[in-house]
Amino acid sequence: MEKRHMIILIVTLSSFSFALFVILFLICACRRKRNESWDEESNPNVKENGVEEIEMKGDFIRFEGAEDLTCFDILDAPGEVIGKSSYGTLYRANLLSDSVLLLRFLRPACTIGKVQDVMRVVQLLGSIKHPNLVPLCGFYSGPRGEKLLVHPFYKRGNLAQFIRDENRDSHKWEIIYRISTGIVRGLDHLHTSLQKPIIHGNLKSKNILLGRNYHPFVSDFGLHLLLNSTASQEMMEDTAVEGYKAPELTKMKESSTETDIYNLGVILLELITGKEPINGKANPDQDLYLPTAIKNAMLDRRMTDLYHPGVLENDKDGSSRVSEDAVIKFVQLSLDCCSPSPSLRPDIKQICRKLEEIGSKS
Ligand SMILES: *[C@@H]1O[C@H](CO)[C@@H](O)[C@H](O)[C@H]1NC(C)=O
Repeated sequence: MEKRHMIILIVTLSSFSFALFVILFLICACRRKRNESWDEESNPNVKENGVEEIEMKGDFIRFEGAEDLTCFDILDAPGEVIGKSSYGTLYRANLLSDSVLLLRFLRPACTIGKVQDVMRVVQLLGSIKHPNLVPLCGFYSGPRGEKLLVHPFYKRGNLAQFIRDENRDSHKWEIIYRISTGIVRGLDHLHTSLQKPIIHGNLKSKNILLGRNYHPFVSDFGLHLLLNSTASQEMMEDTAVEGYKAPELTKMKESSTETDIYNLGVILLELITGKEPINGKANPDQDLYLPTAIKNAMLDRRMTDLYHPGVLENDKDGSSRVSEDAVIKFVQLSLDCCSPSPSLRPDIKQICRKLEEIGSKS
């Protein structure tokens, strides 16, 4: 009996996936043929208030910079899973054209339900272009509510890996400073340059991707806007457990620009100290409020224990790359971002200015 059930289950499942595959294939084939008319139909830049009219069943939208991309290219590309979370899966897809893309599949159950709301968020995210933000190149929405976000792939990995791997470059002030200013500029764009601020909602060193010459790209911003409240809550809690937990989040349940600034502060501390934030899973009893430890050390004037041993190292010709004063100011700025009181944290513009000041004096 057991065996028969198994077989029935397997047959049902495989015919289901086969049917799904055929449907996807047909949709893509048919989209391809209608390529010319497709543009006017679903190009997000064309109509502002026509969102509701876009038919979502198997729709693929391309954004600026990815005009050549087709849904066929993407769904047809061999891919490998590179990450999994409660709300979705990340794939690396190798296209026939030799380009590599990052695909983010969102589980239908975890996303917001209303088609219009999804489209509004996707168009908003797709319109955001900044040298320090990972762009959204395309968005596919399947007939069963599958959602696929298409991004460029960054082969050099993320900031958390870069710090953890003890790469010599991660000890260099010049690189620390370059990465910091890039992240701050990206976040500044989200918080101040758009009609309405976009709260990143999931800022952490794993979500900072690195390009050539350690040029940082902030990723995952606004993703919480696509998730239902349970899923976005889970995402926030996962990140909090990794050490990015603004103290007010114990009472309130929503991320804000202030919680973004808190997370930014933790990232800046990771960069300058080379240490990982306190992981709540590994240390269930520990106070996750990392800066307490650092503040105590500051009071003890044990500053030199804090940052990377290499940060203050001299160049070959004996000249120091950075003054100790600049490093201390950097640590102080990071700690200000992590202030327990949200209203005492600097806003992103103030952080930009402070960082520039520190850079000009280092
Ligand atoms: C929201 O997402 C969770 C998964 O994180 C899912 O279990 C739940 O059913 C969803 N809730 C609603 C109301 O759709």
